[in-house]
Amino acid sequence: MWIGIVSLLPEMFCAVTEHGLVSRAVAANRLQIDVANPRDFAHDKHHTVDDAPYGGGPGQVMMAEPIAQATEYLTNAAPSAPRRIYLTPEGRPLNQEVVEALVSHDALVLIAGHYEGIDERVRANLCDDEVSIGDYVLSGGELPAMVLIDALARRIPGVLGNAESLACESFTKGRLEGAHYTRPRIWRGEAVPDTLLSGDHKAVKSWRARSALKRTYERRPELFRAQPLETHEITFIDDLQRGGDHAQEQGS
Ligand code: ADE
Repeated sequence: MWIGIVSLLPEMFCAVTEHGLVSRAVAANRLQIDVANPRDFAHDKHHTVDDAPYGGGPGQVMMAEPIAQATEYLTNAAPSAPRRIYLTPEGRPLNQEVVEALVSHDALVLIAGHYEGIDERVRANLCDDEVSIGDYVLSGGELPAMVLIDALARRIPGVLGNAESLACESFTKGRLEGAHYTRPRIWRGEAVPDTLLSGDHKAVKSWRARSALKRTYERRPELFRAQPLETHEITFIDDLQRGGDHAQEQGS
């Protein structure tokens, strides 16, 4: 996968390109990242990239031309026609489904805005999509772009070693992940649930499914709307609602 980034703060992306999973994807040549700074496409003496909004009001707006030229530069550098995404709180909410759809593209250009945002004409003419990472306002689109890059990188085939860890994790099946434990067996007086030590794979699988179900029911019950409960799950939830703590052992 190839990702181009339009940003006034290119150095910020070292946080992902030089550390952790994204850097490994880059080193393994499964992900290529290119960054263009609109300031390099501002041709006046001061390399101006922002100006006051027409109609007045607070803040500055990123001017159309430098950001358009940076976007076009990356569009031409891409190995195939990229999907161009502007990161903004007004975009469609990012979730695992959006990540899965975007990872199928060979090339993306992510546009990180600053100030009050970018000139509307760039949004209308040079962006194919707008994505938000949540209902809060950050000072720029760099961190949202990095969030998206991380979520994408771990879905590129061959980047995550263990396919299992993908299959089990939160949101892949419309459920939150359940509890996890590792050694020591007893930590500060608290023991690991017996079932996990039993060596009975079927029982462990069922324990994990119930732990995930319990956590989803308690924290994000609205997820059941997208991924409805199966009959055996309904029985388990009924039991939980009746306060049956035999429904799950301690610690989940
Ligand atoms: N830019 C500023 N805040 C943002 C957000 N919540 N999501 C995406 N881009 C943003």
